[in-house]
Amino acid sequence: MPSAIQTLTVDLGPRSYEILIGASILDQIGQRMKSCVRGQRVAVVSNTTVAPLHLHPVQTSLEEAGFFVTPIILPDGEIHKNWNTLQQIFDHLIANRFERADPLLALGGGVIGDMTGFAAACHLRGVPFVQIPTTLLAQVDASVGGKTGINHPLGKNLIGAFYQPSLVMIDIDTLTTLPLRERLAGFAEVIKYGILWDRELFMLLEERLGEILAGNAELLIQLLHRCCAIKAAIVTMDEREEGKRALLNLGHTFGHAIESLTGYDRWLHGEAVAAGMVTAAHLATRIGLCPPEEAARMHALIQRCGLPTQLPNFPVDHYLEAMTHDKKVSGGRIRFILPERIGHTIVRSDLSTQLLRATLEANMEPSAQPTTKGYS
Ligand code: NAD
Ligand code: GLY
Repeated sequence: MPSAIQTLTVDLGPRSYEILIGASILDQIGQRMKSCVRGQRVAVVSNTTVAPLHLHPVQTSLEEAGFFVTPIILPDGEIHKNWNTLQQIFDHLIANRFERADPLLALGGGVIGDMTGFAAACHLRGVPFVQIPTTLLAQVDASVGGKTGINHPLGKNLIGAFYQPSLVMIDIDTLTTLPLRERLAGFAEVIKYGILWDRELFMLLEERLGEILAGNAELLIQLLHRCCAIKAAIVTMDEREEGKRALLNLGHTFGHAIESLTGYDRWLHGEAVAAGMVTAAHLATRIGLCPPEEAARMHALIQRCGLPTQLPNFPVDHYLEAMTHDKKVSGGRIRFILPERIGHTIVRSDLSTQLLRATLEANMEPSAQPTTKGYS
């Protein structure tokens, strides 16, 4: 049964757009897109995993609404978030003479969303794009706010553009096919909003995690709405990350280093962010910023979600080197987002290398082999 659709607006003047959240709503995408894009042709960008599961209702709805649809099916995985894969999108658009008003539609997780958005930003100097995120992580974070891009071997998401979608449609039914490990990784970003912005959200998670993980649809929609509302509010305040938006990177400085050191194929993004947030909380405690009992609650909730809380074992120098390639480095100094307490975070860029070394060493798995315990 289709549920009532919850709607949110990301208010960015001429670049404003709606986020639609509901269950069993994919069959409405055609009509919804008609009201926000002009072109007649839609390139649906998806991958070899998601397309067989979810392309059919999307394509049918678009065709019933009068669009001519061509799918672009990419290989699956973070390791393919690169120039070669991007080129496949451009090859298709150019060979098929896609015009400026013809939209791209991203159907998939954050990897597909980020690449499709970047292709849309570049093709003919900018064409409309729409997001249908199909992972929890992409539904609460990656599909909203207009960060698009690809990875470079030396660092994550280093090549990209701020480019807002015209519409985001979130259908929680797509999550029924998502593997458990991926779903849990998405909870890292949900917990992130609680730590960085919304103490009540954090407490709701502490109290009702069991119900949420068991798949309570009403609660899940409520949670998605709350996360998207926080993201929309922050992006509205600071679209291009000149201030408050940096807070959304809580856990990412350490997290991106993990992803880079493990070659983007051993740790999921959400898992890396989870261990990164715990490490950031340790760092904050070490400098007397965050009370230990608050950090312990963060650690406990992340652990209850089955997410990693320790960094994989690499030499500390490798971490320090990887962290200097982070986008948040400014004036050569690494910027850290640190929790002061649950619901409030700040940015610090004045931390000594000695302190970082000690924090990294203290929160590293003892094993000599990098491993995501329990996930292999
Ligand atoms: P992902 O896109 O790799 O998806 C995870 C896996 O789940 C993939 O194998 C995918 O094919 C599969 N999948 C997706 N939907 C499915 C479904 N409904 N059923 C079954 N399988 C499904 O990873 P992700 O966690 O969604 O996103 C991570 C990416 O997002 C990273 O590249 C990260 O940098 C990026 N990101 C971007 C932003 C942003 O603001 N743009 C924010 C956070 C993360
Ligand atoms: N995911 C961080 C941001 O969108 O700014």
